[in-house]
Amino acid sequence: MILKAKGITKRFYTPSTIEVLKGIDLEIDRGESVAITGKSGEGKSTLLHILGTLEKPCSGSLEICGKNVSHVPLSDVRNTHIGFVFQSYNLLEDYTVLENVLLPARIARRPTGKNSAAYLRALELLEIVGLKGRASFHAKLLSGGEKQRAALARALCNDPDLILADEPTGNLDHAHSLDIHSLLISLSRDFNKSLIVVTHDKELSSLCSRTLLLKDGNLSG
Ligand SMILES: Nc1ncnc2c1ncn2[C@@H]1O[C@H](COP(=O)(O)OP(=O)(O)OP(=O)(O)O)[C@@H](O)[C@H]1O
Ligand SMILES: [Mg+2]
Repeated sequence: MILKAKGITKRFYTPSTIEVLKGIDLEIDRGESVAITGKSGEGKSTLLHILGTLEKPCSGSLEICGKNVSHVPLSDVRNTHIGFVFQSYNLLEDYTVLENVLLPARIARRPTGKNSAAYLRALELLEIVGLKGRASFHAKLLSGGEKQRAALARALCNDPDLILADEPTGNLDHAHSLDIHSLLISLSRDFNKSLIVVTHDKELSSLCSRTLLLKDGNLSG
């Protein structure tokens, strides 16, 4: 089991109290891909942030790869087991594409110098996503589709067990969305990664092993 969430709740108190998540249970096996859909404001990003340890739930438990996230340093869980992909790419624009892909390795304090394992893997990943020729470009020079491909390579840099993606093609046109969808699904399959992707896109959710709906604070299949 890669992820086991039980009874996750989340309330926000400003400006008024709202209960966004009302007791979410979710189990994800290795290699499984799950699409989470739901209307705007239902709490999809909040749930993904909690599953990724970026935000704390009000109650409930979360295990990632058998580690209870309340009992181990969060950075260990995050850097070792999870790769993130965001709607707005979140690349460091003035860093090169290669430096961006290597960022998770640097945060995890792994060696990233020339010919280090992380460096070689980053180049390999850039080749897989079709960006090897762009490795030394500044991220700001890339197109939207290329930025998201770089972000996919970055998500895989530390060889995580789980990829969390929040509307990864929300900023892309149809053709580039299709390109990123197939890349996201094929990378997850080829590397046997579990995937949780928040998406409104029917085509992407149909490529996942399960689709769940978040509505009124509950998740249903
Ligand atoms: N830090 C916060 N403080 C107060 N309210 C918040 C906070 N973060 C999120 N919310 C509220 O929680 C609800 C869920 O937000 P969330 O961003 O998770 O929705 P979403 O399903 O991802 O929506 P979208 O599809 O538009 O991205 C919204 O009503 C939002 O205003
Ligand atoms: Mg959202």
